[in-house]
Amino acid sequence: MAAYYLSKDKQVELSKIAQSIATPGKGILAADEPAGIIESRFAPMNIENNEENRRYYRQLLFRTKESRQHISGIILCHETFYHKTDDDDTSFPRLLTAAGIIPGITVDRGLIVLGGTDNETITQGLDGLEERCREYKKNGAQFAKWRAALKIDKNCPSQLAINENASKLARYASICQQCGLVPIVEPEVSLDGDHDLEECQRVTENVLATVYKALNDHHVYLEGTLLKPNIVTPGKDCPKTYSVEQIAEATVIAFRRTVPTAVPGIMFLSGGHNEENSTAYLNAINRVNLYKPWTLSFSYGRALQTSVLRAWKGDKNNSEQARNEFIRLARQNGLASLGRYELSN
Ligand code: 13P
Repeated sequence: MAAYYLSKDKQVELSKIAQSIATPGKGILAADEPAGIIESRFAPMNIENNEENRRYYRQLLFRTKESRQHISGIILCHETFYHKTDDDDTSFPRLLTAAGIIPGITVDRGLIVLGGTDNETITQGLDGLEERCREYKKNGAQFAKWRAALKIDKNCPSQLAINENASKLARYASICQQCGLVPIVEPEVSLDGDHDLEECQRVTENVLATVYKALNDHHVYLEGTLLKPNIVTPGKDCPKTYSVEQIAEATVIAFRRTVPTAVPGIMFLSGGHNEENSTAYLNAINRVNLYKPWTLSFSYGRALQTSVLRAWKGDKNNSEQARNEFIRLARQNGLASLGRYELSN
């Protein structure tokens, strides 16, 4: 085998990590909102966006023991990755590892406009990525995340935006694997717009087919990757309504057509869907009566945290209520990832 392919040992290491994250009945908490983004989550609850509040809030989530049977991995942002517990000075990656949760890190550096397009975006962060990945791995990270964003509009997504984003995702994935991190490949098709379900399915299929061609071109070891896609749904301003079952079926069909069976897990983002819908869609997806060779689970940010923040309100006296909300959401989505969620749960 040529030297530029991954060694057998590295392949084994990566596929073990990916499989543990994709353990049936478990999913990922995306707690990687950088300071600028968490502002938009804190502000509606009147929570002051200062560093100690961000640290305390993440500590509250990470120490919620009863959530752990449903959470296999947690994604951190750079700031949180280097935060520590206030009582025993343990770094958050170490705290998670000791609790049996796999720590991950977001390594992209956000979106910029892709010139020559109708305000579409490309994700930054390849410069210096290898050094950063080696440093994160040394400090306990086992997986990474890179988010590409695509939108549906009159002339969008352009094939240029799809190709460029796919190529960057593939280069990122290749670098991560060389450093021993499982790459989460996240090509998000945005919920914004008035497109219908069929249009979202068509675009999602094109995006995923392009992404997997690029991953193949870069010799990315698929068994050591995870996919983090959007659920296939109509745009949030679409006048037509669809049943949860129609959405679930469109989603499963799109993945069956484009995602290789070598990929161990498809971990959905919630992307602006509310908590109830995110759980209902995931549950229905797992109940679709078609062959689904991957674990189909969650990597939710907002859908695992909105009620938690509403309960916490930035006040330590509300920590118990906040923890209970987190346990409830983790449990419901854990059940949904097995297709076993009933409204009465
Ligand atoms: P949401 O579930 O809030 O969309 O966040 C997931 C995520 O990590 C987006 O990159």
